[in-house]
Amino acid sequence: MSSQKTILLTGCAGFIGSNFVPYFLEKYPEYHLINLDLLTYAGNLKNLMEVEESSHYTFIQGNICDRELIEKLFDKYAIQGVIHFAAESHVDNSIKNPGVFIETNVNGTFVLIDVAYKKWMEKPFLYKKGYEKCRFHHISTDEVYGTLGEEGLFTESTPYAPNSPYSASKAGSDMIIRSYFHTYGMNTIITNCSNNYGPKQHDEKLIPTIIRNALEGKAIPIYGDGKNIRDWLYVLDHCTGIDMAYHRGRVGEVYNIGGRNERNNNYIAKKVCEILDILVPKNVSYTKQINYVEDRAGHDRRYAIDASKIEDELGWSAAENFETGIVKTIEWYLGKYNCHITKKYESEINL
Ligand code: NAD
Ligand code: DAU
Repeated sequence: MSSQKTILLTGCAGFIGSNFVPYFLEKYPEYHLINLDLLTYAGNLKNLMEVEESSHYTFIQGNICDRELIEKLFDKYAIQGVIHFAAESHVDNSIKNPGVFIETNVNGTFVLIDVAYKKWMEKPFLYKKGYEKCRFHHISTDEVYGTLGEEGLFTESTPYAPNSPYSASKAGSDMIIRSYFHTYGMNTIITNCSNNYGPKQHDEKLIPTIIRNALEGKAIPIYGDGKNIRDWLYVLDHCTGIDMAYHRGRVGEVYNIGGRNERNNNYIAKKVCEILDILVPKNVSYTKQINYVEDRAGHDRRYAIDASKIEDELGWSAAENFETGIVKTIEWYLGKYNCHITKKYESEINL
């Protein structure tokens, strides 16, 4: 086997993966990263322009459900680790079109881990010589735990209770990973993360929708009463958590990752508008564009992560809180939309 370690990353033309690749490449120049992505509507190679010239990075367009392709990639590149991001990720799409969520998230995850098992292991609990350190890291979501009432936090032992076809498909994929640890003794890790935000997120998600519609003078759609709560984590904080769990997490374990930044959707919309009012003011506040619309079917009320396990065991903590991360995020989107920032955001302005 070559001395350079080759890691298969899936779905890194999407939001989180395309933030992860530049971070990981810079930190680990000894790795060769293979990014396998189908380039669905959610994948965009422009997200990865900063790394495309790197000799440590290779992009392959393809489907994680394509077993023949996955087998060829394992053989050609002697894959020694997998970090699996690829998924259908948008809850609203899963309500309209659940089938592709089952196909990609459940079947695709099965194909990947089953090929990894066959390429890395002789039989249950016995790795092939030279493959003993190969690890499969599955990126998952806090949505598998269902919804919370006003109190309480999701821990790693919270029972699974997924409510949408998206979260059900992610829960199914988590169970497949779990079974390969217990039955075959594979070196697996699962991380379940809360809502990410930051640069490169797809237009369809809440924060990009608020920013874009505000700037275009359109209504900002808030589902239901806007009191649904999510636990918001800046995407680069998720990336450092993945890095630590991949390198130092205990075999077969699950780690929840979350920023202890619970905010409801009304707060998010108002805050983004208030920051835009400072950075790119117009004659009326952007908050006037906030518009309540029909609720999402089966809309989970509250998610919140107890991140004690990854904090205590691996020393992870979030560097950003929502109020710092959102300013960076908005500034990035203003760049994307070529908006001239009229007035620099001043930290003493009380957000
Ligand atoms: P995304 O939708 O932005 O990106 C998904 C990527 O996967 C895209 O590049 C897409 O082209 C690719 N893809 C889809 N189907 C594929 C297939 N069959 N084969 C190969 N590639 C395929 O998603 P994201 O927000 O970056 O999420 C990445 C992972 O993190 C997902 O597994 C998601 O469930 C999980 N997650 C996301 C969040 C969040 O807030 N965004 C939070 C927790 C966990
Ligand atoms: O919790 C982690 C999950 O976070 C990830 O697993 C998912 O992949 C990711 O998409 C995200 O799911 P959400 O459904 O929480 O994210 P979304 O941005 O779609 O919605 C956030 C909240 O905002 C949710 O309560 C629904 C609401 N919403 C969303 C949109 C797109 C609105 O009120 N208006 C909107 O236009």
